[in-house]
Amino acid sequence: MQFFVDSADLQAIKDLADTGMVDGVTTNPSLVAKSGQDFKTLIAEICDLVPGPVSAEVTALDADAMLKEADELLAIAENVCIKVPLTWDGLKATRSLADRGKKVNVTLCFSANQALLAAKAGAAYISPFVGRLDDIGADGMGLISDIRQIYDNYPDLETEILVASVRSPEHMRAAALIGADVATLPPEVLRSLIAHPLTDKGLEAFLADWKKTGQSIA
Ligand code: E4P
Repeated sequence: MQFFVDSADLQAIKDLADTGMVDGVTTNPSLVAKSGQDFKTLIAEICDLVPGPVSAEVTALDADAMLKEADELLAIAENVCIKVPLTWDGLKATRSLADRGKKVNVTLCFSANQALLAAKAGAAYISPFVGRLDDIGADGMGLISDIRQIYDNYPDLETEILVASVRSPEHMRAAALIGADVATLPPEVLRSLIAHPLTDKGLEAFLADWKKTGQSIA
């Protein structure tokens, strides 16, 4: 399973990349706005930090304008992955980019049928937003399960499931159990995956006992 970082915060991405756990990065216009940085410069810097796919989202609404923006973004670095919204124009742009061998992440997915359309359009990734579904009382992880089953029913569909809008370690555990291909995690959620009080308590006891031996290893 691949771990992406869902962030436009360069320092947070760098810190996590240093752990060796980061396979890619996803951004969106809201995260870019929050960073206060110039979009293209930011994407270039993230692409330098992380060799894996870095999703950069187009903001045009019609397919031709999306493709024009995609070309600008693709010129930034080899590992740019174009992110498009799940609209008919987005799917049209996806088909065109996929035919050119470019990776597309189709975002804002909230239903299994949308995921099926994105896969038929040749998307490299589909991004179902589990947290936002949970927020409205729907079953975010149920959607991941449905998409997994549908994609597995049709092996010619090569789109990877990129679980997005992840809010908790429980989301991550459930996504991994279902067999999602990728999860994109806010930095704080990725960091929280390691936490367990018994690990802390056990380490504390081991170190205290070791001290009693008076030995050192190196
Ligand atoms: C990822 O590609 C999405 O932009 C992101 O996960 C959305 O998360 P949010 O629902 O917490 O904004």
